[in-house]
Amino acid sequence: MKFFVDTADIKEIKELHDLGLLDGVTTNPSLILKSGGKISEVTKQICDIVEGPVSAEVVATEYKDMIAEAKVLAKIAPNVAIKVPLTLDGLKACKTIRTEMNRMVNVTLCFSANQALLAAKAGASFISPFVGRIDDTGSDGMELISEIRTIYDNYDFKTEILTASVRTVNHVKQAALIGADIVTAPPATLKALVNHPLTDKGLAAFLADWAKTGQKIG
Ligand code: E4P
Repeated sequence: MKFFVDTADIKEIKELHDLGLLDGVTTNPSLILKSGGKISEVTKQICDIVEGPVSAEVVATEYKDMIAEAKVLAKIAPNVAIKVPLTLDGLKACKTIRTEMNRMVNVTLCFSANQALLAAKAGASFISPFVGRIDDTGSDGMELISEIRTIYDNYDFKTEILTASVRTVNHVKQAALIGADIVTAPPATLKALVNHPLTDKGLAAFLADWAKTGQKIG
């Protein structure tokens, strides 16, 4: 399973990259706003750190304008994946960006299996189902990941399932159990995956016993 980080915070991205844990980055207009920087500059800075796909989102809602924005974003770096919304214009743009620009496309704001099916047919590189936002409505976001996995496997679609709107470490575990290709999570959630109280307790006990031996390694 690949780990993407869902942030435009350069410091956090660098830290996770240095840990060797990062396969890619996702951003969206809200995360760009939070970063306080310009989309072109922030995206370039991220691409200078991370070799894997870095999603940058178009904000146009009509096909022609989406393509114009995609061309601008694509010039930033070769690893920019163009993020388009799951609308008819977005799907049309997805097809064009894949076939004519030969670029990765992340189709975002997916909330149903049928939407994911359309994105795969449009040749999307990634589909982003928002599990946390589905949970917020009282439904089960992970059920959608399961449905998409089944559909994509039924037809051998190559579109990667990028589990998005991840809020908890349990989301990450469930996505991995289902066989999602990727999770994108906030930095704190990715770092929290390492936590276990028995690890802390065990380490403290080993270190205490080691101190009693009076030995040194090396
Ligand atoms: C994914 O690409 C989105 O940027 C993100 O996961 C949305 O998460 P949120 O629902 O926490 O805003």
